[in-house]
Amino acid sequence: MTPQPHATTDVEAPGPPVPRLAARGLVVHQGRTRALAGVDLDVAAGERVAVTGASGSGKSTLLLALGGVLVPTEGNVALDGATLSHLAEAERARLRRTRFGIVFQYGQLVPDLTAVENVALPLLLLGRGRRDALEAARAVLAELRVDDVADRRPIDMSGGQSQRVAIARALVTAPDVVLADEPTGSLDSVGGERVMATLLGAVRERGATLVVVTHDATVAAYCDREVRLRDGLVVGAGEGR
Ligand SMILES: Nc1ncnc2c1ncn2[C@@H]1O[C@H](COP(=O)(O)OP(=O)(O)OP(=O)(O)O)[C@@H](O)[C@H]1O
Ligand SMILES: [Mg+2]
Repeated sequence: MTPQPHATTDVEAPGPPVPRLAARGLVVHQGRTRALAGVDLDVAAGERVAVTGASGSGKSTLLLALGGVLVPTEGNVALDGATLSHLAEAERARLRRTRFGIVFQYGQLVPDLTAVENVALPLLLLGRGRRDALEAARAVLAELRVDDVADRRPIDMSGGQSQRVAIARALVTAPDVVLADEPTGSLDSVGGERVMATLLGAVRERGATLVVVTHDATVAAYCDREVRLRDGLVVGAGEGR
């Protein structure tokens, strides 16, 4: 059976377009900590949003909730107007594989696989043939200018190369939404700017929506908008910096 898109009851009505992502009243408890304390956030299709804030302010938690990796304690996230947060895990996993590309805070490449195998993995999980998947993976590695490490395992790559490979893995399925958690975290400022420029270029080329967590003001300045978190709440939102 082919999966049907979510039925929405929305009729074509005048007014603002439905945001690609809409978080409403997000509260997330992580252990005993209230990591998010009531976050509202709309992200339009094609928009690039930087999420900033001190360590522990809830940035990773917000990103994971936006991607349906984490189920909020209260509130919800909608993707194109359809609630995502409280779908069954299998359905959220399907959406993550098809609609989202996620770059995790610590890269999380599979250590026993080469770069090209890591990047091909999401396609294999979607049922693409191995040859086809590896070919597509090589193309994205080349686009991100990191095809020279295609056949190396993560332990034999530099920090910047690993970050690019992790970004390639997030992009290979042509997702509508890219969620990236500190994609330049382990790099110096020059390396970080290069990786960020590559990420933004690739996202723009695909017309994808980006939510990127960063500590770095220069990274935030590349985005359309910055959302600042403090103690699990949005404290400031503005146009760039
Ligand atoms: N698995 C967990 N168990 C318990 N507490 C957690 C867990 N994950 C996060 N927290 C807590 O929730 C709060 C928000 O964490 P989160 O990881 O979202 O912060 P962050 O802004 O991403 O920080 P950083 O910049 O250091 O990555 C912190 O107080 C953190 O200690
Ligand atoms: Mg974090």
